[in-house]
Amino acid sequence: MCGIIGYVGRASATPVLLGGLRRLEYRGYDSAGMALQEGSELLVARAVGKVAKLSEKIDLTWSEELQGRCTVGIAHTRWATHGAPTEANAHPHRDASQRICLVHNGIIENYRNIRQKLEAKGHVFVSETDTEALSRLVGEFYKGDLRQAVTRALRQVEGAYGIAVMAADEPGVIVAARKGSPLVIGVGEGECLVASDASALVAHTRRVIYLNDGDIALLKADSVQITDIDHAPIERDVADLELEAAAVEKGGFEHFMLKEIHEQPESVRNALRGRIDAQQGTAVLSGMGTSPRELAEIRRIVMVGCGTSLHAGMVGEFAFEELATISSEVQQAAEFRYRNPIVDAHDLVIAISQSGETADTLAAVREAKEKGTMVMGLVNVVGSTIARETGRGVYLHAGPEISVASTKAFTGQVAVLLLMALKLGRSRHLSAERGLAIAQQIQSLPELIEAVLAQNDAIAQVAAVIAPHEHAFFLGRGPMHPVALEGALKLKEISYIHAEGYHAAELKHGPIALLTPGTPVVVIANQSPVVDKVLSNAEECRARGAQVIALVSQTGSAAVADQVIRIPDCDPLVATIPAAVALQLLAYHVARLRGCAIDQPRNLAKSVTVE
Ligand code: F6R
Repeated sequence: MCGIIGYVGRASATPVLLGGLRRLEYRGYDSAGMALQEGSELLVARAVGKVAKLSEKIDLTWSEELQGRCTVGIAHTRWATHGAPTEANAHPHRDASQRICLVHNGIIENYRNIRQKLEAKGHVFVSETDTEALSRLVGEFYKGDLRQAVTRALRQVEGAYGIAVMAADEPGVIVAARKGSPLVIGVGEGECLVASDASALVAHTRRVIYLNDGDIALLKADSVQITDIDHAPIERDVADLELEAAAVEKGGFEHFMLKEIHEQPESVRNALRGRIDAQQGTAVLSGMGTSPRELAEIRRIVMVGCGTSLHAGMVGEFAFEELATISSEVQQAAEFRYRNPIVDAHDLVIAISQSGETADTLAAVREAKEKGTMVMGLVNVVGSTIARETGRGVYLHAGPEISVASTKAFTGQVAVLLLMALKLGRSRHLSAERGLAIAQQIQSLPELIEAVLAQNDAIAQVAAVIAPHEHAFFLGRGPMHPVALEGALKLKEISYIHAEGYHAAELKHGPIALLTPGTPVVVIANQSPVVDKVLSNAEECRARGAQVIALVSQTGSAAVADQVIRIPDCDPLVATIPAAVALQLLAYHVARLRGCAIDQPRNLAKSVTVE
């Protein structure tokens, strides 16, 4: 989604802002822009397309000498919501006097209303965006005090925002504010930055302040003042950023996605580190913050998430039922608060989110808290809004996930859900013997993943079979059903092949009509109590001319398959992780063969901060 970076300091702002925008490119965007303070003037440059286009434009229009003396600026990457990706719609937007510039992430829901009122006063809008309404509103209230004007404008606004604003008449000042869209401030030596994502700050400082909803910050080169909307001062801690600059580089891999797929033995190891009690056959998850009594009283588990995180929750559902005998379900976060969720103090709601900023998942967290339920986060990004608002839960420790297509977050989420299920199981009926057996299997996950990664070349060959097609199916049963959904999601997002994930037994209830000779059907037929039934489903596809690509266990039969990918023999719940890794690699190689923009797929955004 959109990205924001702002800088106020002593260095030339242009390279800092362009560097920040490049770090934010992974979030997905379709235009970019920048505004600089030059004395008591504001300069604006905007371009459709990549940050490189903006950079070219800046070099053509602003001399090196001019860029060198401008030390304050704001910049933005826009993922179009209101209006097409055009230069006129790109941020920064200005007020009527052209002396205020604003960049914005989020959606101003009542912008039509504001726009009509301003038009009635004579404003002539130059874009189709909701953001222009806000920048003009700030201008309406501006009487020489930018923070005051921003505060007054925000009182009239409904919706979500993370904004950074500058006024020509207040050199050396940026005002930033958030509600529903993340913003983090970087505190350097004689310089301050603000960004929508800490990865844009890491090259400059490790000292950060995470803004909360309702915070308004006044940034100068050597100070940060935070107030609420009623101007009451607020103290926020300065935290240390636990992010290495190298973690947001490709490290020799052709794509971030490939790097992140290969990081999974390590990222899963990090998710498990110190969390398995091999003596007791249980898990140690102090972040859950639950007493044995609280654990024993949990009657039902409801997981909420979107996309890949939703699929991880669906695997978790099987784990909680099988290992902990706790009734559990997964709900799409976007529906949770609109369907009058029936949850109470005996339920546990787990919000699953890589970014910790997904708007729908955050809204579900707030709804669940409102209902008095115990809420935990299963989050990757430390300090993110969901992590902070849930207050307890388990971090994935997967490190930054830059590729838009989620990979290591999924395997981390499933690994942690297995640990949670193990812990809840051991606090109830799960025997020490079964607990130990499953704990050992979970512990061996890094090696199981290595075994799949070692088949990279063979998987690339299988990808060549799929790449020429425009449709594909992924079938699985039990905990492999969500893995099939995830495999299909990966393929469609990065290769643009229409891929359907289906329950293997459901195919014959309708979608089998779509099979034509040659259609690739990926069937997950690992060691499980229903493997024979899945193989029969594969036969049904083959009988209709489909090409069957089977994921089978090391010792399993591949008789039904045209192409085979082997996954290690292991417990069916644990096997979901190596199977997912195999499907990630498969999607990656298909997309590569089709020449797709793997790390920045069309129309997609990392971290969806609008509903
Ligand atoms: C798919 C993908 C998305 C995210 C979804 C939720 O590869 O990345 O489906 O999983 O947008 O994001 P988080 O986990 O950040 O809440």
